Amino acid sequence: MENEKGASSSTFKMGNSAQERSLPYVPDCYAVPPSYEPRDALDSKSESVPTIDISRLKGSDDERRGVIQEIRLACQSFGFFQIVNHGIDQSILDDALAVAKGFFELPAKEKNKFMSNDVYAPVRYTTSLKDGLDKTQFWRIFLKHYAHPLHRWIHLWPQNPPEYRKKIGKFCEEVRILSLEIMGAITESLGLGRDYLSSRMDENGMQVMAVNCYPPCPDPKTALGLPPHSDYSCITILLQNLTGLEIFDLTAHDGSGRWVHVPEVKGVLKVHIGDHFEVLSNGLYKSVIHKVTLNEEKTRISLASLHSLGMDDKMSVPCQLVNDENPVRYRESSFNDFLGFLVKNDISQGDRFIDTLRIKN
Ligand code: OGA
Ligand code: NI
Repeated sequence: MENEKGASSSTFKMGNSAQERSLPYVPDCYAVPPSYEPRDALDSKSESVPTIDISRLKGSDDERRGVIQEIRLACQSFGFFQIVNHGIDQSILDDALAVAKGFFELPAKEKNKFMSNDVYAPVRYTTSLKDGLDKTQFWRIFLKHYAHPLHRWIHLWPQNPPEYRKKIGKFCEEVRILSLEIMGAITESLGLGRDYLSSRMDENGMQVMAVNCYPPCPDPKTALGLPPHSDYSCITILLQNLTGLEIFDLTAHDGSGRWVHVPEVKGVLKVHIGDHFEVLSNGLYKSVIHKVTLNEEKTRISLASLHSLGMDDKMSVPCQLVNDENPVRYRESSFNDFLGFLVKNDISQGDRFIDTLRIKN
């Protein structure tokens, strides 16, 4: 037994991971190093995180100003907020989660058609972060694919389950419209105006959909679904079927921070500030550090829609946000630059793209 466990602990062949095989124990390569995971600091009660009624963005000038102010505060303190009254029909959210779950329930042969460890592939199915390559493995299975413009990518997506393209396509389109509204509100909250990025987000803007599945884990105290990380995006919009997401509140405990458990409320969507909006704000807004914890009984599904500028379009600090007290704090970079970083670095060990962009003044 010792031998068998030892052998399967080192690495897994792609498509053969512990979470895909429902192993009844967590192999050593999933054990999260205690150094970067202050689990005890977690106050694991559900807590209040900023929740914003964004229907008021379409209301009177006063109402819109109020929402913009709430967004500004949430971006400054958490880099994260939840949105309600976002206008996307509950049936679209439910259908997307259901068809995503359906994909992961397909036989391995069907899913393996998409299996790839090439971070440049526009559609890829894999496990963990970089399957078998990173030092620590994570109890996650995922399908990642480009989603905008839809007509350019949808024919590459899975045809199984038969409704996958239709249901995920609808979800992607609706979330993208929402993302433009939210990004406009965020640029407005920075004093840049709501159309600051509009022309660069049109046809060329990127939308990457991460369809995540976290199977039940026999030992949720040892393994994680995803390690602490921030997203490279401008913003990420997230839908989940169960709790599991935790965000790091940098401002708590006099700056030493603490983990906050994000509650699940039906129909609510989550918005993450990504690294590229931290750059856009010249550091006023923080890209939120978040992680995924696991569940012993249930399969958790999440859909993370990452929105960014075009592949080679570089995000830089706007001159409007620079003055003597606020020099430029970040180098410019593109989505493509992030992919180059991803190939060379190990996010499982805490490497962060944003750290490579900081300019020491
Ligand atoms: C991600 C991510 C969170 C989740 O895909 O980048 O952080 O809840 N997902 O699955
Ligand atoms: Ni993330």
